[in-house]
Amino acid sequence: MKNNPAIIRAILEEIHKNNLCRKSCILGIGGGAVLDAIGYVASIAHRGIPLIRMPSTTLSQGDSGVGVKNGINYFGKKNFVGVFDPPFAVVNDYSLLQTLDEKHWRSGLSEAMKVALIKKGELLQEIENNKDALLEKNIVAMSSIIRQSAELHLLHITQCGDPFERLDARPLDFGHWAAHKLESMTDYSLSHGDAVSIGLSIDLQCSVLLGLLDSTIANRVIRLLQYLGFPTNHPDLLNPELLEGIEEFRQHLGGQLTLLMLKGIEHPIDIHQLDVAIVRQAIDELM
Ligand SMILES: NC(=O)c1ccc[n+]([C@@H]2O[C@H](COP(=O)([O-])OP(=O)(O)OC[C@H]3O[C@@H](n4cnc5c(N)ncnc54)[C@H](O)[C@@H]3O)[C@@H](O)[C@H]2O)c1
Ligand SMILES: [Zn+2]
Repeated sequence: MKNNPAIIRAILEEIHKNNLCRKSCILGIGGGAVLDAIGYVASIAHRGIPLIRMPSTTLSQGDSGVGVKNGINYFGKKNFVGVFDPPFAVVNDYSLLQTLDEKHWRSGLSEAMKVALIKKGELLQEIENNKDALLEKNIVAMSSIIRQSAELHLLHITQCGDPFERLDARPLDFGHWAAHKLESMTDYSLSHGDAVSIGLSIDLQCSVLLGLLDSTIANRVIRLLQYLGFPTNHPDLLNPELLEGIEEFRQHLGGQLTLLMLKGIEHPIDIHQLDVAIVRQAIDELM
């Protein structure tokens, strides 16, 4: 969906054929990829038609659905074309999640663990305590995690003073430099949730190797990701092209390189350079 620019034309044509105007409203129902593409088109047609998002995956309900970013991939780069534009409303209907396959059912949990690590240790504990219920597709356990994840993402965007990412830091993208690069290197066969799990594992190991984080915390989180069925390594981690992801991440943000590392749970810290030897060692340990 996000890799095919023809989809943009097709959605624009529907808006044109149906004579939608700025007082119309588009209802987008789908996972993060569908919502990212529809959101982009909704914001450029007539310079903006209101969009109601109805996310249908755990990841989009707990993360991207409440976000302000819309876009598609281009030139083999993730989200190269896109806009910041908040939706008019977001409706999370948990009953939509029941038809998800195993991979996309778990997908939202790596993003929830990401935001929990930065902002709410209690949420990490809840995921740990309910790991079996989550694996058994218990909707009550999952909806509690999704709600908190969505709230933490939304609070960050609305309360932390940089909704349109003009500054260098981008805390919600913990673990994402490697995740985004891996997704494009694997031609998007790796799901975003799985890529984030691998990216988090790399940056947790880097945090340990930089002398910032206690290894017991990193091991605890990596073990939990594995228990939930997430991958924490991938053959492409050994491809030197992966390291280009650091510079691509910097370019996408602009300004000086800013990566988030962890000193502890709820103790993030920004760093402005990352030695490739550290990344290689982190990857060796994960492999
Ligand atoms: N805009 C943002 O802030 C932001 C943040 C995180 C991720 N994203 C983007 O979101 C995308 C990942 O989103 P995703 O994890 O929702 O995956 P997805 O949108 O790729 O959907 C995954 C799969 O699930 C299917 N699906 C969707 N809803 C379903 C349902 N209810 N039942 C059965 N199958 C269903 C889809 O057809 C697809 O095959 C990536 O492209 C990522 O870049 C955007
Ligand atoms: Zn993400």
